Amino acid sequence: MALLEIKELNRRFGGLQALSEVDFAVEPGIIKAVIGPNGAGKTTLFNVIAGSLPPTSGSIHFQGEQISGRRPFQIARLGISRTYQNIKLYSGMTALENVMIGRHIRGRAGFIAGMLHLPWTWQEEREIRAYCQELLEMLEIGHLAGVEATSLSFGQQRAVEMARALALEPQLLLLDEPAAGLNIYETAEVGRLISKINSQGITVLLVEHDMSLVMDISHEIVVLSFGRKIAEDVPAAIQQDQEVIKIYLGEAED
Ligand SMILES: Nc1ncnc2c1ncn2[C@@H]1O[C@H](COP(=O)(O)OP(=O)(O)OP(=O)(O)O)[C@@H](O)[C@H]1O
Ligand SMILES: [Mg+2]
Repeated sequence: MALLEIKELNRRFGGLQALSEVDFAVEPGIIKAVIGPNGAGKTTLFNVIAGSLPPTSGSIHFQGEQISGRRPFQIARLGISRTYQNIKLYSGMTALENVMIGRHIRGRAGFIAGMLHLPWTWQEEREIRAYCQELLEMLEIGHLAGVEATSLSFGQQRAVEMARALALEPQLLLLDEPAAGLNIYETAEVGRLISKINSQGITVLLVEHDMSLVMDISHEIVVLSFGRKIAEDVPAAIQQDQEVIKIYLGEAED
């Protein structure tokens, strides 16, 4: 059974059809990329999967369960977490504290009790702290745990965002342009981290404009253009696809 299955998905904004009859599945264990020109509907697709936007119509099944139209926190609890195209880290908090915020939504005591430092949450707080520190180590920024998150380099901030998403222990991780704004070295580094995350059994759905990164690490690719799926295949086949080549050359001429 596919981990995620999207059928006839539509999302309209007034007169604009941002997603149009989108169909695809994500098999467990893979890295699948969603590519396409600016405005193709990639972020809208993520917003609909994660529940921050309801679809206009269509279905989304996660582990066989229909999730479309559910609230973001319900979907997160089922095992889907995400990062954002524009980095969203809290300033005035360390890298570790930012990751702990991601973890608290799973905790029994909850964020409010944690903030109030109720004694019965101390043990849980220690466990959360240790777990989040381990995630930072896995993403190779453990030594930066105590540094204010927004003072880190963009590459390091992307790693903190990924750690925060992983703090939910998701089965499916949605990454929206994790290499945006990064130089070629940082991009290669983020690519390596994504493969490392995937090698631990987490399925990844990746939106990305950096084609060398996409071709390097993805097992399958879906191509969107004006909200429609125009191709879906393995990277080598996508690179040869005439329609895909045409939309990318068309974009380059603009
Ligand atoms: N909340 C919204 N309200 C109205 N229109 C929206 C909204 N969100 C997205 N759109 C429109 O839907 C279309 C798809 O946008 P989306 O952000 O999904 O594209 P994208 O593929 O992520 O593009 P990019 O590569 O630039 O991030 C665009 O025309 C955009 O202007
Ligand atoms: Mg986008």
